[in-house]
Amino acid sequence: MKISVFRKAHFNAAHRLYNPDWSDEKNWEVFGPCSNPHYHGHNYELEVKVTGEVNPETGFLINLNDLKKIIKREVEDRYDHKNLNIEVEEFKNLNPTAEHICYMIWKNMRPHLEEKYELQVRLYETPRNFVEYPAS
Ligand code: NI
Repeated sequence: MKISVFRKAHFNAAHRLYNPDWSDEKNWEVFGPCSNPHYHGHNYELEVKVTGEVNPETGFLINLNDLKKIIKREVEDRYDHKNLNIEVEEFKNLNPTAEHICYMIWKNMRPHLEEKYELQVRLYETPRNFVEYPAS
């Protein structure tokens, strides 16, 4: 039986959207107040979706306690209460848009899940704006 299990998490982080190859005017034109050089914060909400076959011995798809630990280590410990541009290695040269953050969460988590599972990550930057990777 194929099924999906979801786990929610959240973190608060600061960022600035900025392309260093552009002038301040162009950055303002494209990113608006998100290019504020003094940074700004978001309450990010995360939904992690794991899909696969239920283990007939346990009745579980995945042990949620294991999934919780992976999310804590790979997402919360890395990003929570951080300035993403300054403190997080992967965003030193990568604009921390919701798209890039979502992809990096997937990339950081993927090696810690057994290959038999499919992993999909949905990230809410605001209650109305969210992104998903891989695209469905
Ligand atoms: Ni922002």
